[in-house]
Amino acid sequence: MRYACECLHEGEEIKEINIGLLGAGVVGSGTIDLLARRGDQIARSVGARFAIRRILVRDPLRPRPVPIDRSLLTTDAASILDDPSIDIVVELIGGETPAVEYIAGALRRGKHVVTANKEVVAKHGSELLDLANRSNVNLFFEASVGGGIPVIAVLRHDLIANEITSLRAIINGTTNFILTAMEQGHGYEDALREAQRLGYAEADPTNDVDGTDATYKLAILSTLAFRTNVRPSQIEHFGIQRLSQKDFQYAAGMGYVIKLLAAADAGPNGIAASVRPTLIPTTHHLASVKGVFNAVLIDGDQVDKFMLYGRGAGARPTASAVVADLCAVAHNLQRNVIDRVDIVQHRLPVVDFGDTQSRFYIRLQVADRPGVLAAIARVLGDNEISIASVMQHETDETAGVAEIVIMTHLAAERRMATALTEIGTLDVVRETSAFIRVER
Ligand SMILES: NC(=O)c1ccc[n+]([C@@H]2O[C@H](COP(=O)([O-])OP(=O)(O)OC[C@H]3O[C@@H](n4cnc5c(N)ncnc54)[C@H](OP(=O)(O)O)[C@@H]3O)[C@@H](O)[C@H]2O)c1
Repeated sequence: MRYACECLHEGEEIKEINIGLLGAGVVGSGTIDLLARRGDQIARSVGARFAIRRILVRDPLRPRPVPIDRSLLTTDAASILDDPSIDIVVELIGGETPAVEYIAGALRRGKHVVTANKEVVAKHGSELLDLANRSNVNLFFEASVGGGIPVIAVLRHDLIANEITSLRAIINGTTNFILTAMEQGHGYEDALREAQRLGYAEADPTNDVDGTDATYKLAILSTLAFRTNVRPSQIEHFGIQRLSQKDFQYAAGMGYVIKLLAAADAGPNGIAASVRPTLIPTTHHLASVKGVFNAVLIDGDQVDKFMLYGRGAGARPTASAVVADLCAVAHNLQRNVIDRVDIVQHRLPVVDFGDTQSRFYIRLQVADRPGVLAAIARVLGDNEISIASVMQHETDETAGVAEIVIMTHLAAERRMATALTEIGTLDVVRETSAFIRVER
């Protein structure tokens, strides 16, 4: 590859690297803006200036939040992918298709790729990294997890000498904002509306609130951490939609907060990974992660516990990660090397979630009469689940219904599921209102 050169200072040669940008939305506009504002500083630091040559959008007439040279806009992806002068394709359109075809097409044509696309990396990352290796180009995806938090580089490079045994993360800012508001006394619907008003949640928030977005991110983190391909479909996930204000109150009374926890562990039987609402002790490192902030807690055998914390989304933090990847490509181009990543060294199995163990919080509506607790305790005992505590919180004397919260000791998820089905058939049980894992 050959680059045009300029001199920033006398005697200092700055290479020009041509970029084709796919997408000029939140992150694309942030990237255009950051490169415009910090171009000189970056050129001095990395010895290369990034020149955006073309920008793919759906609607070239749409107003943009930052100044963009409209002559660069195109609706024709081939005008970027087939342009031999483009060195790096930056994919920021989002979604699985056509993004995955564009990324693969760019790699096949010998172009380096930087992407923020968690869905594509989670579902197709290992194949795309293989393709990048075979095409002798770099594929970087720092912005796909944690926005401005540099967690991918940490896993790919800084912790390379570690065996990582566990990951715990809050990696969806929308749900963490909603859960923080619920912790402060707001209902789910109010908290969601506020998140939408502030631009933290989309008009259709499904992918965030049902755990899908966090599942994509956990698949990427687990794959890198455990050097085994973990697919999103292998991750058990539950959303936050069924949580009630009461669960936050009762949890607080027992010294817990509720978080949408992305958790993955590598044990002797393989990898167990899940995304689900979880009670976390208020003393836990992740309990203080509030609002739209994200954090990733990594347990490595050399570094022990290690936590990264920061803004998980937004134009500026995410553009910061995209531009960092561009600079990494520039460094590699100057040294004529690529980052090879063999992410499937270990090929550990991903274990059935039913075989994993946890403590559980269960909230039930039951008949307010003697013998009820004994009936429930018998079902739990038959399934080898022991009770750590029981609390009766409210009684509706007119309806004859009481609300109880049970905390269990460690139990297998499969046994717990069986016990809950059996408890649901007891004539004294009106409703199983909540069933939440408890983190130690
Ligand atoms: N937003 C964040 O805070 C954030 C954080 C981390 C990662 N990410 C990831 O970054 C990526 C981009 O997110 P975003 O929030 O910037 O999205 P966005 O605001 O919806 O922008 C998407 C851009 O891509 C263009 N586009 C979409 N589909 C296209 C297609 N089929 N052909 C041509 N152009 C197309 C759109 O064109 P028009 O403008 O003409 O509609 C728009 O410019 C996603 O993968 C997302 O998951 C986002």
